[in-house]
Amino acid sequence: MKKFYVTTPIYYVTAKPHLGSLYSTLLADVAARWHKLRGDKTFFLTGTDEHGGKIAQAAKKVGKVPKEFVDSFIDAYKDMWHKYDIRYDHFIRTTDESHVKAVQQWLRKLQQTGDIYKSHYTGYYCTPCETYVTGDYSKEDEAPRCLSCDRVTVYIAEESYFFRLSAYQDRLLKFYEEHPDFIIPSERSHEVLSFVKSGLKDLSISRTTISWGIPFPDDPGHVTYVWADALNNYITAIGYASEAKKGEFHFWWPADMQVIGKDIVRFHAVYWPAFLMAAGLDVPKHLLVHGWITVNQQKMSKSFGNVVDPQLLLDAYGKDAVRYYLIRHMAITQDSEFSTMDLEQRISSDLANDLGNLLNRVVTLAHKHELYEIRPPKNWGAQGLNLRDAFWSMLDTYSLDMEDGYFYRALQGLWKFIHEVNAYFHNAEPWKITDKERFEEVISATCHSLHAIGILLLPVMPAKMEVMLKSLGVTTDFQGDLVQTLSENPWTKTFLLTKIPALFEKYEPEQIATKEAPEAQIPVISFDDFVKVALMVGTIDRCEEVKGSDKLLALQVNFGPHGMRQILAGVKKSLAPADLQGKQAVFTFNLAPRKMMGFESQGMLLVARDEENTLTIVAPTAVVPDGTRLQ
Ligand code: MSP
Repeated sequence: MKKFYVTTPIYYVTAKPHLGSLYSTLLADVAARWHKLRGDKTFFLTGTDEHGGKIAQAAKKVGKVPKEFVDSFIDAYKDMWHKYDIRYDHFIRTTDESHVKAVQQWLRKLQQTGDIYKSHYTGYYCTPCETYVTGDYSKEDEAPRCLSCDRVTVYIAEESYFFRLSAYQDRLLKFYEEHPDFIIPSERSHEVLSFVKSGLKDLSISRTTISWGIPFPDDPGHVTYVWADALNNYITAIGYASEAKKGEFHFWWPADMQVIGKDIVRFHAVYWPAFLMAAGLDVPKHLLVHGWITVNQQKMSKSFGNVVDPQLLLDAYGKDAVRYYLIRHMAITQDSEFSTMDLEQRISSDLANDLGNLLNRVVTLAHKHELYEIRPPKNWGAQGLNLRDAFWSMLDTYSLDMEDGYFYRALQGLWKFIHEVNAYFHNAEPWKITDKERFEEVISATCHSLHAIGILLLPVMPAKMEVMLKSLGVTTDFQGDLVQTLSENPWTKTFLLTKIPALFEKYEPEQIATKEAPEAQIPVISFDDFVKVALMVGTIDRCEEVKGSDKLLALQVNFGPHGMRQILAGVKKSLAPADLQGKQAVFTFNLAPRKMMGFESQGMLLVARDEENTLTIVAPTAVVPDGTRLQ
């Protein structure tokens, strides 16, 4: 049996968790759940970083002693992780006695080998980031700004213990060369390499003017509280320096994947490997480095006052939809903008339309034909075999991407397959088939596909996928390597279908638009961004109601030399097809197409909405040629 040890950063506890901390933790949860699905023995560690000047100051502000202050947030973290189905194996706090003792042992060991020594520190320090500014500055220089947060730093001059980082420059460079996949995605290694190549200075790891930290062994006037304390949590949690847990420690270490945000790469890719090398321990196999969640293009952070509360999202959309959205639409390789409008659109199109609706259609149709138990056909037809082949080839790339931490890419591939299953079902038109065997074959192929999809999505949406699998009559009490089983399964399963309420709720465009309305939320955009939007005049040649929707009208719009387009508009409550037919209006022309209620919309109609919610279409005051672009 393979082992998989995954960690999250430990969070500073000055407030409740926000969406950024949820994101790091979710990535680790998905990784752990994926490895469980593969039958691996997994260990998932998360926790809190509780020492340091920043926390001591925050505690003082509210009149609490630091320990009492940090204690007050721990339940908020644990509860939130629990509510989002994050199943960690251990929650470490840097104030845990076992951690404190183990860090002291690490300090002692490195003092003995000479890797930690006492000297004098003078230079600038950023308290919010708990980090020293590198570079040669003297007290007379203007205080430099922090490289991470851009705040002005403070000058300190005091006795300090140092870690001999300079001695590890060559070993680190050799390590990066021999382990090109240490940092995922590899593009993030450039800044690390240039930092190390530019020359490493010894690192100050203790302070005498702060008391909220781990006292140095035999020199309690000094405390260590930042990275020498925090980074070591990854080893102390699994038994480093504990005689009783020696076996356990050597079983789990080195970590297989350490999830971190891009702001803490240097600490994890430079200091941490050097700390481990000095202690004679292996370096972790991979760092999975993700970008930031931004709101209005700015990092979401407590200090910027733009944090999104995961509890509100949970109440409004449910844990699985939020999990899916964060994993699929926040690509780890870049910063990603969060908006509830986008979240609602993704839930509607990806989850409600593409997935939930497919399940609902297949179960409803089977039941309509009084078919509850779906047996596989004796022989699969060509389309069924094609679909199965498409699944197998998707499974290969899905597995590789999940293994490497590119979860968003795995989901993109999986969704392509979901579209193929929808197309298969749609083209086969089972509702018209009179031959019972052929009908059952189409239902069975769709059920086999949904079954595989449900299993592969368990790490991302554990609760909803369990519901979906149950509706197919599949037990979720799994054993062994499920992915392997899927790759060998020649589609011979029997399904027992039960009808369930819609898996996901749909948000229609009108609902979405009204939520974003308040003036205060309208962000300023640059001229360059504005000119990216193509607005174009077209004539509405035809206009019909969209079946099953009380809001949508489908317009066939003539854009002259640019051709005809179908555009859906959520205006039905205020405008009738006759109000629109034959009229000229203004449309967005280069928005990515979107599916609504199973139809594609290739643009948006511009309307003005008054206080009574009456809509008026926006049009030029005189007729202009169709296809005229607004400028
Ligand atoms: N305590 C240190 C980590 C020590 S690990 C040995 C720390 N804590 S933190 O609470 O400030 O941040 C923890 C993690 O949350 C980081 O990986 C950080 O990137 C992540 N996020 C905080 N805000 C974020 C976003 N807006 N978006 C995505 N992740 C972000 O650093």
